[in-house]
Amino acid sequence: MFKNFKLVPNIIFGRGCFAQLDEIIEKQREDIDSWVVFVTDDVFKGRALEKRIPLHDNDLLLWVNVDDEPKTGYVDELTLKVKAYRSTLPCAIIGIGGGSSMDLAKAVSLMLTNEGSSTLYQGWDLIQNPAVCHMAVPTLSGTGAEVSRTAVLTGPEKKLGLNSDYTVFDQVILDPELIKDVPKDQQFYTGMDCYIHCIESLEGTYLNEFSKAYGEKALDLCRQVFLNDHPDRDDKLMMASFFGGMSIAYSQVGACHALSYGLSYVLGTHHGIGCCITFDYLDEFYPEGVKEFRTMREKCNIELPRDLVKNLEPDQVETMITVALGLDPLWENCLGPDWKNIMTRDKAKSLFLKM
Ligand SMILES: NC(=O)c1ccc[n+]([C@@H]2O[C@H](COP(=O)([O-])OP(=O)(O)OC[C@H]3O[C@@H](n4cnc5c(N)ncnc54)[C@H](O)[C@@H]3O)[C@@H](O)[C@H]2O)c1
Ligand SMILES: [Fe+2]
Repeated sequence: MFKNFKLVPNIIFGRGCFAQLDEIIEKQREDIDSWVVFVTDDVFKGRALEKRIPLHDNDLLLWVNVDDEPKTGYVDELTLKVKAYRSTLPCAIIGIGGGSSMDLAKAVSLMLTNEGSSTLYQGWDLIQNPAVCHMAVPTLSGTGAEVSRTAVLTGPEKKLGLNSDYTVFDQVILDPELIKDVPKDQQFYTGMDCYIHCIESLEGTYLNEFSKAYGEKALDLCRQVFLNDHPDRDDKLMMASFFGGMSIAYSQVGACHALSYGLSYVLGTHHGIGCCITFDYLDEFYPEGVKEFRTMREKCNIELPRDLVKNLEPDQVETMITVALGLDPLWENCLGPDWKNIMTRDKAKSLFLKM
């Protein structure tokens, strides 16, 4: 079976293109009662970007906090807020921020048209009805959330996305000027998420020419950003994120993502830094990639936290292993169909205990 991959239909790219957002949204405003919700990372409260959001009289500026990565409970709460604001549905939801805010915007746009709690839809193709029109304005690049068909959510029972064709954004606004003020360490962690997407895709057994074409270009862009410190680094990183996302959409991620999911599930570690912590111990699987990652880390002067696992309770480590090994396709992509004989619980434990 081949994937019939749904693409984002409209993309605008270029420095300053955020200024066209109002005009782009205008097409969705059918009558004077039409209204729009701007799901915006609260890091922008009081910053210049806040004043540039093209709010009309009826619109709702919905600040979101991403100190914790998106949870189903938070999505349900935000959806209720939107429903309570006016009796009609908004004509568009605009997510402004990094992967977390973009995922919150995706999830709210889906939950406005699908009954019940978002926990009911964690999985593959469980969404019944099309979402409200939703658009992304990334302000941090690397996750590829702007292009993917998932909104990653942590629920009471599992960390699993709302995966569906309806999840894909209707419009993406790629303005490299918006990522220039991201703190250096955060830019590295999220940028390395993209670098690791490329390595896991290009080194994986699921590789095909579609994924390779996007993965190779994204990798080249990551190198220009993190090794050569190219003057157009923001433009390049923004496109690397998009292409890296395209690459994994048609292949899969691998060992680093699987193990980092286990780490995040137990410790609440954020995705980008969790991937960095994990990747540093995966020489055995991705020797060249890990070597280059370390060079980038040194060049960017980033220290990673160490010794996070060895003092945990044994049952916490067991949970980490169970979560990580539950991600079959990721392991199959990394190690092939025989992966269960290679990545045993003992092997996974020995890797976690190094972290
Ligand atoms: N949907 C997908 O396909 C997909 C893929 C990978 C990761 N994810 C999810 O994405 C999330 C991680 O996203 P992320 O790494 O982009 O980080 P994030 O969105 O969690 O943001 C990290 C930090 O950067 C801040 N920030 C964002 N933009 C900024 C800016 N321009 N200036 C200053 N600070 C800024 C945020 O406020 C936050 O403190 C996780 O929840 C992960 O599960 C989703
Ligand atoms: Fe990732």
